[in-house]
Amino acid sequence: MGQHVLIKDLLAHAGEEVTVKGWLYNQRTSGKIKFLIVRDGSGLVQCVCTKKEHPELFELAEQATQESAVVVTGKVNPDQRAPGGAELHLSGLEIVSLAQPYPISLKEHGVDFLIDRRHLWIRSPRQAAILRIRSSLEMACRQFLHQRGFVLADAPIITPAACEGTTTLFEIDYHGEKAFLSQSGQLYNEATAMALGRVYCFGPTFRAEKSKTRRHLMEFWMLEVEAAYFDFEDNLQLQEELVYHLVQVVLEQHRSDLQLLGRDIGKLEAVSRPFPRLSYHDAVKLLQEKGFDFQPGEDFGAPHETAISEQFDSPVFIHRFPTAIKAFYMQPDPHNPEVVLGADLLAPEGYGEIIGGGQRIDNLELLEQRLKEHNLPRESFEWYLDLRRYGTVPHSGFGLGLERTLAWLCGLEHVRESIPFPRMLYRIYP
Ligand code: 4AD
Ligand code: MG
Repeated sequence: MGQHVLIKDLLAHAGEEVTVKGWLYNQRTSGKIKFLIVRDGSGLVQCVCTKKEHPELFELAEQATQESAVVVTGKVNPDQRAPGGAELHLSGLEIVSLAQPYPISLKEHGVDFLIDRRHLWIRSPRQAAILRIRSSLEMACRQFLHQRGFVLADAPIITPAACEGTTTLFEIDYHGEKAFLSQSGQLYNEATAMALGRVYCFGPTFRAEKSKTRRHLMEFWMLEVEAAYFDFEDNLQLQEELVYHLVQVVLEQHRSDLQLLGRDIGKLEAVSRPFPRLSYHDAVKLLQEKGFDFQPGEDFGAPHETAISEQFDSPVFIHRFPTAIKAFYMQPDPHNPEVVLGADLLAPEGYGEIIGGGQRIDNLELLEQRLKEHNLPRESFEWYLDLRRYGTVPHSGFGLGLERTLAWLCGLEHVRESIPFPRMLYRIYP
């Protein structure tokens, strides 16, 4: 038995005898040679076994079914053509547990079939690649913010009030009181930002909207950033730096995963700073020029976002939306109070809005007025109003949707593949 090595690190052990612990993904026989494809979560490796050299291993391999747990030992042969750049010349095989006939064969399956078996589907090389990139993205977000002095301050999941409109809340019974699953940690971020200066939270958020699109989940993860003494422009700069950094991290750390996914890597390499910026007003003009029957004052739908983003190679900011279509907490533009200092960031290639954010109202009277206009229960927001009573300052923040960002970076048709267990309209199993 050689040293236990992860498949992704095999090349560093060229010529050595090593052990890989994983599962049998596939096998084929060509005359007196057997090729076992083993996966261990970090990648796939082809193990070569000849009948002549190891008749007993050859026979044992015959019994191994798809997804049987196996421990293989062998010498690492660098091979340019092999996935991962190395093959294993088999000298040992142990079947740790024999799998029953596996329901997901290597031929194509329909999405409904696969999503019913999501707990097994995630074993496929494609799904594992996506989840590895997801993990790196989360890590990169945390590191990026940590390095810039942002403090992680987790927001509660169970909340007494709405943040992003009252129509999309999951209601729960909180010991006889009405409560909701959080739509956004933003309001709490505003409180922790006044305590800690620069903060972020990163957790699951919930939207009960009955949307069945390629971009909607009922439960999704949002990175939410908030900073005191931070204006609209500071906020856009930070978003741009963050998103550009995420693209570079994926390009640097996940080239082979991107290739496995069939992602057009050139599209990611084409992303450059500064990101283009378009006012809502100019975006409407652009849509009208492109033949859309779009009236100023409406909110963008998916086809509009796609048409706008197709104009650019990089993500594009749409800023200064009409006050009427945005959330109650958005700071009006001092030059034109009909619009807010808020912006959405649209990913290229039609992947839609990946960030929503902006400057927050810091004036007590204006915020009180907005709560009224939006019919929000003032009692639930007294603590939020306190932030404007005691040392209020200009502050801004944003929320980045992890699954949509990942869907864009990986080139996924649908966000359902971007989270281990998607929660979608009418689907909660497994
Ligand atoms: O634009 P949203 O609703 O903004 C907020 O919740 C702000 N309070 C965030 C903040 O400023 N702290 O959501 C932010 C992002 C969207 O741009 C999108 O990427 C993602 O969250 N998102 C969803 N992702 C998947 N499924 C859904 N149903 C989503 N709704 C929003
Ligand atoms: Mg939004």
